[in-house]
Amino acid sequence: MKPKKEDFVKTDLLFTPASSAQTELLTVFAVDNSTSKEKDAKPEVSLLTSDEAVKKAAGYVLSSGEFRAEANETLLLHAPEGLAATRLLIIGLGKAAKADIHAIRRAAGAAVRFAKPRGLRSLAILAPEGNFDPAQSTRAITEGAILADFDSDTYRTDRKDRSIELLAILVPAANDKSSAEAGHREGVIIAEAQNFARTLINEPGNRMTPTILGQRAAEMAAEYGLKSEVYSTDKLRELKMGAFLVVAQGSEEPPALIVLTYEPPETTSVAPVIGLVGKGITFDTGGISIKPADNMEKMKYDMAGGAAMIGAMRAIAQLKPAVKVVAIVCAAENMPSGKAVKPGDIAFAMSGKSIEVLNTDAEGRMVLADGLHYARELGATRLIDAATLTGAVAIALGQINAGVFANDEDAYQHFTTALGISGEKFWRLPVEDEYREQIRSSIADIQNTGLTRYGGAINAAMFLKEFVADTPWLHLDIAGLAWQDAEKPWLAKGPTGVAVRSIIEWVRSYS
Ligand code: BES
Ligand code: ZN
Ligand code: ZN
Repeated sequence: MKPKKEDFVKTDLLFTPASSAQTELLTVFAVDNSTSKEKDAKPEVSLLTSDEAVKKAAGYVLSSGEFRAEANETLLLHAPEGLAATRLLIIGLGKAAKADIHAIRRAAGAAVRFAKPRGLRSLAILAPEGNFDPAQSTRAITEGAILADFDSDTYRTDRKDRSIELLAILVPAANDKSSAEAGHREGVIIAEAQNFARTLINEPGNRMTPTILGQRAAEMAAEYGLKSEVYSTDKLRELKMGAFLVVAQGSEEPPALIVLTYEPPETTSVAPVIGLVGKGITFDTGGISIKPADNMEKMKYDMAGGAAMIGAMRAIAQLKPAVKVVAIVCAAENMPSGKAVKPGDIAFAMSGKSIEVLNTDAEGRMVLADGLHYARELGATRLIDAATLTGAVAIALGQINAGVFANDEDAYQHFTTALGISGEKFWRLPVEDEYREQIRSSIADIQNTGLTRYGGAINAAMFLKEFVADTPWLHLDIAGLAWQDAEKPWLAKGPTGVAVRSIIEWVRSYS
């Protein structure tokens, strides 16, 4: 039942005219050109194609004004006249002024999720003509389609294989062929990396222990030519990773310190070394400060930050940026037991700092403290971590934006550039020195929770900041977005793989 690479839908580029595409569902994008703000104003819908046969087939129904081309709105026509396809799906991108590649990524996904439950096995999506860069639009369609094909019901024994078998992206003659090919290649690499992270996150705690996560990372590394090392308790003791160790000590499952290294074919002497650090708590019960039973099952996704880093490395190995990248995933299971760390216990982090463990449920920052320090020891000169770190970040930002914290403006600028490409939403929160008193301990250097319950996501970030010294660093708190309880038109419910695309682009921005 192990999800394999082959589980990701295969996509092909086709350069034939849309009207002759033999498919069960030909999809074409539409925008609303009207500038009127009135809700009842007649929409001015136009299709993003110059294919006369497609325009003709859709002309009558579009003139009815019933279809408004709102984002991800669908209109299905059976047996469209003059087309080889058996169905024509028109899908909206919203107002023309807002129809960007991110709208295209989602709409391509919505087309796939329209086709899947209807039992359709072949689908062709017509790339837009006109204002869109052919590499970018082809990439966006590819990403959206592959991401949308993922479903999380892996262990349903009556699960029919509902994957799309033939997914073609039709490239109009007006679009540059080699640009489209390059965009397609990138889209496949990036979306598969994100889906790979999602398959890891989706696994329950009994099937995704720290050891298994280490094995999956090592298998992936061997397949794509990355160096991998997976260490356990002995090595953690040798490295004096006391913060990481106290989290792991309550469990029968040994921890895993996963280190993946990408060496670029070429680099420059000024290029930084990038360190990716991920929280890999394969199950978070809270430990002795145990969590309530309601929703505890969700805590299998507490390794989503670690999975994001493993997924990002899968793409980096193929995209080959001219910069060295080291990824560290700190994997452990947070359990209560007779051996578990107790509130009030003191741990010494690898950096030498003493930590008072006030709440054993604030375990993510403990393992990351040692992971961040170790990344610097391995030579990282730019750091990024990703973690489902706090419930508080979801209280602050809801489930629309994830949190980003930065101690360096340049690193943050690189990240905003990355967001422009990935289309993911992150909102910056502060890590200013005034907050530091929240984590001052009366017995040790720092404590692992804030003095008050205000600003919980910031307190956690301030804790991490203690371990990065003056290295430019970004912290991504993805607790609110790593899992979605309801499906979106373009994405199944379950693990989202948030942050994978942005991390990849952030790394590439240094290349
Ligand atoms: N893994 C949780 C954070 C979390 C909450 C992730 C909800 C995903 C969804 C983390 O380890 C945790 O328990 N944090 C505590 C910190 C507190 C004890 C200071 C929290 O957020 O309540
Ligand atoms: Zn916790
Ligand atoms: Zn946790």
